[in-house]
Amino acid sequence: MKESAAFEVQERDAIYRVIASRRDVRRGFLEKPLPHELIERLLYAAHCAPSVGLMQPSRFVVIRDYDVRRAVHEAFLQANAQALETYTGERREQYANLKLEGILEAPQNLCVLSDPHSERGHRLGRHTMPETAIYSTVCAVQNLWLAARAEGVGVGWVSILDPDRLRAILHVPATIVPVAYLCFGYVDCFAKEPELERFGWESRIPLEGVVSYDRYSAGRKAEEP
Ligand SMILES: Cc1cc2nc3c(=O)[nH]c(=O)nc-3n(C[C@H](O)[C@H](O)[C@H](O)COP(=O)(O)O)c2cc1C
Repeated sequence: MKESAAFEVQERDAIYRVIASRRDVRRGFLEKPLPHELIERLLYAAHCAPSVGLMQPSRFVVIRDYDVRRAVHEAFLQANAQALETYTGERREQYANLKLEGILEAPQNLCVLSDPHSERGHRLGRHTMPETAIYSTVCAVQNLWLAARAEGVGVGWVSILDPDRLRAILHVPATIVPVAYLCFGYVDCFAKEPELERFGWESRIPLEGVVSYDRYSAGRKAEEP
């Protein structure tokens, strides 16, 4: 069975709108938990993602238990304190004022893991680039992030965590790689611009700054401090 090539204009517009208005959300989560069916829809979106050799290496742990989230939050606090130590001066002050997670505020968290040693897919595409197993899981995260935006669900990615400590908390075997730790839940609205831009940490570069044709050329705009 085949589907027609292009979607209707309205459907296309909706896709681009979802992509452009997706945000990383760390605050403003509503207390109301997401219904199970909605969580399943989001996980299904993630599971539909492309994967190298069709290996489907992504695994998902949905976390609702407060004690588990609190343990992860403590791990975040420690990792974040260490990260703060790497900055000095104004940057340090700025970093200290950033809100970089919503682990306890969001009623649900999700750990997205990858099994990069799985024999599924028979190593197709991984002979030269074994890291594509992990890339495949990142594709799954993005699918979920976009589906969540369409559902009015905010998602925030927390990478300020020691993977081994996360493994210990979630009982993850050493061969399985934690790729993304996400906080997610209903929100009232989505900010128009990335929070890091709003707080002056970094600004977005225009598309022209990162595109070249036929040969690589380092975009001047991409390299500006
Ligand atoms: C791999 C990855 C890790 C990230 N880790 C964090 C994090 O630890 N804390 C945080 O507040 N945001 C984190 N973010 C969110 C980014 O800061 C955010 O995507 C970026 O500032 C652009 O904002 P937007 O997603 O709202 O467009 C992460 C995003 C990615 C893709």
